Amino acid sequence: MERGHLPIMPQEIIEYLSVSSPELVVDGTAGGGGHTSLLSEALPGSQIMAFERDPSATEQLSLKFTGTNVSVFNSSYTEIPSVIAKKGYQQASAALFDLGLSSIQLDSPERGFSHRTTGPLDMRFDRSQGRPASEVLRMMTEKQIADMIYRYGEEGRSRVIARAIKQKGQLNTTDDLADVVRSVVKGNPVKPLARVFQALRIFVNDELDHLEKLLSEMHMWTVSGCRIAILTFHSLEDRMIKLHFRDSEYFQQFDPPWQLPSQTEKKENPRSRSSRLRLGVRL
Ligand SMILES: C[S@@+](CC[C@H](N)C(=O)[O-])C[C@H]1O[C@@H](n2cnc3c(N)ncnc32)[C@H](O)[C@@H]1O
Repeated sequence: MERGHLPIMPQEIIEYLSVSSPELVVDGTAGGGGHTSLLSEALPGSQIMAFERDPSATEQLSLKFTGTNVSVFNSSYTEIPSVIAKKGYQQASAALFDLGLSSIQLDSPERGFSHRTTGPLDMRFDRSQGRPASEVLRMMTEKQIADMIYRYGEEGRSRVIARAIKQKGQLNTTDDLADVVRSVVKGNPVKPLARVFQALRIFVNDELDHLEKLLSEMHMWTVSGCRIAILTFHSLEDRMIKLHFRDSEYFQQFDPPWQLPSQTEKKENPRSRSSRLRLGVRL
């Protein structure tokens, strides 16, 4: 089974972020370290600070980048301002955020992120914090589950699915949840499955709250002219970023404001298909 993660739109991102010789570059979602490595190689004179919320991913990243210009922090990107201040920096000159989860996490059955593999229904980026998805579902009402699936998964059959989840009772594994979705969805269940799993993952990890906090504080730790690249994977987060770069008094959209992966990349790396690279600049 594939346990690696291919960085998405690597050339486009490196080209965008390495126009000057930035003193400090932030990779807010280091994951498997693919983009971090490319940044480290392209900008040998810069300090790269890599943030990662998942402790097991952070452990691997620390090993990978020992003795390089990359320092690794097991923190959410919401902690960037305090972490960079502690390290004696005030502002960054370039920043990258590759949102969502990595293929390494998706392909690890024990993490419970995928409807394609059997594992505990967990889905937490950091298993030492918060509640696993199985417990979250147990504690929510049918209406709360339906709202969550509709809002974070943009799945129209949210009410029917939520009713079936509550009727089934305790769901412990990814298969338990996948079976419930399959039992009520007519036709090909792949899209509804992906949407339900996405919704639950976003909810369990409070992803949009983290993103909201990041966007509302980003002007405090970015220098004027700082280029920001954000890879998004669904319309909710993409819209939040688009509106922020368009309407914030501190940022403007780059021209062009976004890019899509090439046909070749989509073919070689199917995970890139739903991605969009949003580009912004600090005024
Ligand atoms: C799409 S992957 C990044 C892949 C990476 N760019 C690479 O090339 O390997 C997203 C990563 O962000 C992490 N993550 C999600 N939310 C985060 C947050 N709020 N702060 C820091 N890391 C986060 C996930 O744990 C995951 O490892």
